[in-house]
Amino acid sequence: MSNELNDVVVIDAVRTAFGRAGEKGIFWNTRAEELCVPLVKALIARNPAVKPEMIEDSIWGVTNQVKEQGGTIGRMIPILAEWGWEIPGCSIDRMCASGLTAIGFGLSHIAGGMADCLIAGGVEHMGHLPMGFMRDPHPRAEELLGGPSAFNMGMTAENIHDRCPEFTKEMADAYALACQQKTARAISAGKMKDMIIPVEVELADGAKMMADSDQQPRPDTSIEGLAGLKPPFREEGGRVTAGNASGLNDGACVVLLMNRSKADELNLRPKMRWVASAAAGVDPTVMGIAPVPATEKVLKKAGLTMDDIDLIEINEAFAVQALYFLDRFGLKPDDPRVNKWGGAIAYGHPLAASGPRLVAFLCGLFKENPHARYGLTTMCVGRGQGYSVIWENCN
Ligand SMILES: CC(C)(COP(=O)(O)OP(=O)(O)OC[C@H]1O[C@@H](n2cnc3c(N)ncnc32)[C@H](O)[C@@H]1OP(=O)(O)O)[C@@H](O)C(=O)NCCC(=O)NCCS
Repeated sequence: MSNELNDVVVIDAVRTAFGRAGEKGIFWNTRAEELCVPLVKALIARNPAVKPEMIEDSIWGVTNQVKEQGGTIGRMIPILAEWGWEIPGCSIDRMCASGLTAIGFGLSHIAGGMADCLIAGGVEHMGHLPMGFMRDPHPRAEELLGGPSAFNMGMTAENIHDRCPEFTKEMADAYALACQQKTARAISAGKMKDMIIPVEVELADGAKMMADSDQQPRPDTSIEGLAGLKPPFREEGGRVTAGNASGLNDGACVVLLMNRSKADELNLRPKMRWVASAAAGVDPTVMGIAPVPATEKVLKKAGLTMDDIDLIEINEAFAVQALYFLDRFGLKPDDPRVNKWGGAIAYGHPLAASGPRLVAFLCGLFKENPHARYGLTTMCVGRGQGYSVIWENCN
């Protein structure tokens, strides 16, 4: 094996529609694994040069690794796809960035020569496994994480508003409205069609349907409607609401990663090339600020500045946290490079599936913007982490 890193490329990326968590959600009667299996089958069907036996690993991010999401779901997915026992698999937890980290491990496996072709993704069924379900924090965790708010993501967003009063509720609502509008435009222009793989589901009343479109977006959102919502995380003076936060969702997303020379050998056209990745840690009580140091780190590793980045996909856990990121890089809230097709405030945030969704969005955006050279995917993580990856357009 040589000491040179292999060039790693994304061949394809697919996802399920994102459903609302809970009994009214499209996936209420569907297990987490059943969200993933149609996706990996679709990757093979869409890329006939790739055979299941070429897949050297199945790396899945999943935050809550209990019940149907436990027992190493990454290993179970190729088995449930009936690809045999030969394809290994594992599950990764970095909370919201579990899926992006799964992709990160996949990238480094290929770059380092451990594999030439693998799948990496993320899944979260927040309806069946709610945030924090069956968790048993260490008795000293609260003290060492900085207080009880570190355990409640909505409170960490309120903390950012406290620390940075320049980001007002009105700004957060205006950001959320713009997100809903961009999302509505992208959906009606058909931008989601190529990436969403329909999944057959049974609804609460027993009726069957194909789940092929996102359930969370609210295209009729208005600034007046947002202004009237109650702040669930702080009764008095709270600024974070259901309207300017991401929701509770079920969904999965997966990407096919390959050594560039393997892609050439198979005559496959890569969508984008990995440039650099970085993770960073911050005060857990303001976890949403962490994409800033993670992005500073990754830009340095790539030898680039924010001016070189043509497309930015930031996971909007909360509007205030996206506003903070943009401000710290000197970008306006409506910078046209940012979340062109909308973001998690509208589509929802099925935790581990969200990082791969950013990657899937960037693949699509690179295709329709062939002159864009570099793109960034970045997200914040509970317990105070950020994860950022820079990619180069292959179109
Ligand atoms: C904020 C949160 C508590 C809201 O949960 P919820 O109450 O189940 O959310 P809903 O979708 O039912 O919305 C609540 C209300 O706001 C309304 N609403 C939501 N978005 C709206 C919008 N854009 N415009 C107008 N009204 C809106 C809903 O209609 C609903 O009204 P109703 O109670 O009259 O039916 C939940 O989404 C949450 O916890 N989000 C953060 C998730 C998180 O922490 N993720 C990890 C990030 S690190």
